[in-house]
Amino acid sequence: MLKIVVMISGGGSNLQAIIDGIAHGVITDAEIVGVISNHKKAYGLERAMEHHIPCQVVSRGDFANQAEFYQALLAAVDGFMPDLIVLAGFLVVLPKDLIVVYRNKIINIHPSLIPAFCGTGYYGLHVHTAALARGVKIAGATVHFVDEGTDTGPIILQKAVEVKAGDTPESLQRRVMEEAEWVILPKAIRMIAKGEV
Ligand code: GRF
Repeated sequence: MLKIVVMISGGGSNLQAIIDGIAHGVITDAEIVGVISNHKKAYGLERAMEHHIPCQVVSRGDFANQAEFYQALLAAVDGFMPDLIVLAGFLVVLPKDLIVVYRNKIINIHPSLIPAFCGTGYYGLHVHTAALARGVKIAGATVHFVDEGTDTGPIILQKAVEVKAGDTPESLQRRVMEEAEWVILPKAIRMIAKGEV
């Protein structure tokens, strides 16, 4: 049974996709053993609590400095003893120790077709605003392993969606989430749980 910890910062719609994937049997042999958020008001925590998933908030403001925050973050993850860590809209740069200790066991969902529109500053709506400004006709999402870089780890899955005339950053974000993110993240977890990656 693959033990998963999901790390969030906001709405948690990707967390919900994993919860639903397990509930509907899309993801087998896996369970979410914990959810960690860096924001105490993240709606994703509500989603986790509705499914009786243990939650932990590790918020930078509660610590005297970055080192103590990072120490608490690592301790929170270790406490769940995960086989896989899923960054689902987690907007904190991970401590290097975490990446070293959990090498090739951390995956991230990014709302573009990497290597387009990724790296520092490309998160949330910024990604879709940049894509529309460039005038791309295809957008999409990527699931990749996390390494020391930003959105630079080995790619696991990608899914493209069409950019439509009149799209706003919000409408494009919604389509990328619904048609790409919420599909490939559960699929990637299923593949990892089945030893296919
Ligand atoms: C998603 O767009 C995801 O691609 C990005 O951050 C957003 C998180 O959304 N990493 P949610 O919290 O999963 O709803």
